[in-house]
Amino acid sequence: MSTLITNIGELTTNVADPALTPPTGVEDLDPCGTLHDAAVLVEDGRIAWVGPAAEAPAAAEVVDAAGRAVVPGFVDSHSHLVFGGDRAAEFEARMAGQKYAAGGIRSTVAATRAATDDELRARLRGFVAELRAQGTTTVEIKSGYGLDVATEERLVRLAAEVTPEVTFLGAHVVPAEYADRPDAYVDLVTGPMLDACAPYARWIDAFCETGAFSVAQSRRVLEAGIARGLLPRLHAGQLGPGDGVRMAVELGAASVDHGTFLSDEDVAALAGSSTVLTLLPGVEFSTRQPYPDARRLIDAGVTVALACDTNPGSSFTSSMPFCIAVAVRDMRMTVAEAVWAATAGGALALRRDDVGRIAPGMRADLVLLDAPTRVHLAYRPGVPLVARVWKDGAPVV
Ligand code: NIG
Ligand code: FE
Repeated sequence: MSTLITNIGELTTNVADPALTPPTGVEDLDPCGTLHDAAVLVEDGRIAWVGPAAEAPAAAEVVDAAGRAVVPGFVDSHSHLVFGGDRAAEFEARMAGQKYAAGGIRSTVAATRAATDDELRARLRGFVAELRAQGTTTVEIKSGYGLDVATEERLVRLAAEVTPEVTFLGAHVVPAEYADRPDAYVDLVTGPMLDACAPYARWIDAFCETGAFSVAQSRRVLEAGIARGLLPRLHAGQLGPGDGVRMAVELGAASVDHGTFLSDEDVAALAGSSTVLTLLPGVEFSTRQPYPDARRLIDAGVTVALACDTNPGSSFTSSMPFCIAVAVRDMRMTVAEAVWAATAGGALALRRDDVGRIAPGMRADLVLLDAPTRVHLAYRPGVPLVARVWKDGAPVV
C-alpha cells in the first residue's frame, strides 16, 4: 500500500540536506531542513521518497495537503502515564501560592496501588489517544507511582502494552513505609524490584533531587540498571542545583531531564557529551518556577529536547504544541529550534534513529497541521491545529 501526501506548503524534514533547503535566507538559520511545495511518499509504513511535489511518483492513494504544513510526529521522551487519581487540589493550592515539593508523589502512589490493572489500562489508553490527537507518535512512559515490587511490575507491564520506550523509575521517591530507611529502599529498587521490572523496560531512571534521591543513591540505581542491560536517563536539576547532571553524563545517560537549575560546569559537561538535556516547559508552567534558559544551553552547544512530562503532580499537559509554544515564548528558543527539539531532539533523547525526521527509510510518522507553517504551533497557542496524524504510515487521527 502506498500513499502520496502532496501539495505540502511547508515540510519540516529535520534533514540537513542543502538539496532539500532552497536558499531563501531564512532557512540558513533553520535546523529543520525545510522544503516548500513538497510531497512525501509512504510505502509499507516507511517513508519511501521525499521531494518537490512536481516530481512526485504515483501512488495508490493521494492525500492533498492543500498547501498546509507537515512536521514529523512529535517524539515525547518523558511521561508518567500510568497512575491513579489526580492532584487538582494540589495544583489549585500551588496557584494560590503553595510551593511544589517531591512529596506530593506519595498521594499518587496510594491511588495507584489501589487501582486495578483494568482501571490503570483504561486511563493509560485514554492518555495515549489524547497525545496522539495532539501529534505525538512516539512516547516514553515511566513507572514510579507503585514503589513496591508488585505495583512497579504492573506499571511497566501496562506501559509496555502501548510503547517500546518503557522506563523503570522505582527510584521516584522513597515510599512512606521506608521513610526512615531510604538506603534499604534503594536495596529493594536495585534488587527484587529491578529483577521484576527489567524484562519490560528499556530504560533506568531516578529522581535525583532534594526530597527524593541523593547523587550516590541515584548512581547506585543507574549502575544496577546498566548492569541489567537497561540504558540510563536521569531526572535532575528540577528543584535546585546538584551534582546529578555530571554523574549522568559520566554514566553516558541518553538524557538528563528538567535541567531548570544548571551550573556552568553542568552546561560544559553536557556540551561535551552525547547526553541530551530534555526541557519540560509544562513543569515550570504548572509549578510556577522560573523557566530554564534554553538559549544558554543551545549557544553552549548542548543538544536540547522538549517533552511534556505528563504526570498528575508537576505537569498535567499532554500537548507537545503547548510545550513548543511555551519554549518559544518563555525559554528563548526559536520556533525552528523548538519544533526540532520536539521531534529530532526527542528521538536523540531516546536514542532512536527511525523517528523524528522525514527522510527515506524513516518510519512514516507524520503530522499535517491546519496551518500554512509550523510557526503557527507557537503563534496560535492552545488552538487545535493537528489535522491528521499518521503513525507507521497508518492514519491514527
Ligand atoms: O518529572 N520529577 C519527578 N517526577 C515528576 C513529578 C511527579 C509528581 O509530582 O507526581 C516530574 O516532574
Ligand atoms: Fe518526570
